[in-house]
Amino acid sequence: MSIKSPGLFIAFEGGDGAGKSTQAARLSDALESRGFSVLRTREPGGTPIGEKLRSLVLDHGHGTIDPRTEALMFAAARAAHASQVIRPALADGTVVITDRYIDSSVAYQGAGRGLGAEGVLSLNEWATEGLHPDLTVLLDVDPSDGRQRRTAGDATEDRLESEPDDFHSAIRHAFLDLAAAAPSSYLVLPANADIETLAARILERVESLLVDNGVPANSASLESETVTGDRP
Ligand code: TYD
Repeated sequence: MSIKSPGLFIAFEGGDGAGKSTQAARLSDALESRGFSVLRTREPGGTPIGEKLRSLVLDHGHGTIDPRTEALMFAAARAAHASQVIRPALADGTVVITDRYIDSSVAYQGAGRGLGAEGVLSLNEWATEGLHPDLTVLLDVDPSDGRQRRTAGDATEDRLESEPDDFHSAIRHAFLDLAAAAPSSYLVLPANADIETLAARILERVESLLVDNGVPANSASLESETVTGDRP
């Protein structure tokens, strides 16, 4: 169907407080220092319209948002993100690292809000024209651990985060079900492992995918390595 792009598409998924942003930043830094061109982005967001949708759907104070409206808002933000940001970057040979993607909608709106996985998946297939990650890193977090981590200090919870633990428990299981259905496209790790161990496991898996997919490191940094290496 779609022709494989020269870049690599990696999504981080997991419940709130799983530490996705920390690990996405670690991976991005590690790949950049190895000469890869990297784009780090997030959902909902990544485009001007996506950032507006983000505050509409996440901030408290916009009245009731029914589940279908919520699913469509996330899908609208994702459509813009996929077509305006992710596809062009992949076509340029960039490694795209996104903090959340379609699985978040399947978990939060499909399982958490009860819309069902199938409808949410097909909405998102349409929204992204079938653009799926090459690898999804799932940081599996226990809902009560997640709440403790995200409310540490005086951080407040957004509209979705403030849902009760059973909502977050349904989400956790939906993520695990998605991973179990396509194990070769997932790396599932316990969110409570230490940061260094997680970063190393993720980098190892991504490096092997970069080799398998023939993703080139940035030519400028390769050239400088070659020049240095060639000199006596
Ligand atoms: P996130 O960016 O991880 O939150 P933060 O930056 O505050 O850590 O995600 C925002 C919230 O949106 C999170 O509670 C999950 C939710 N969400 C959905 O419900 N569906 C979606 O499709 C996406 C992308 C996020």
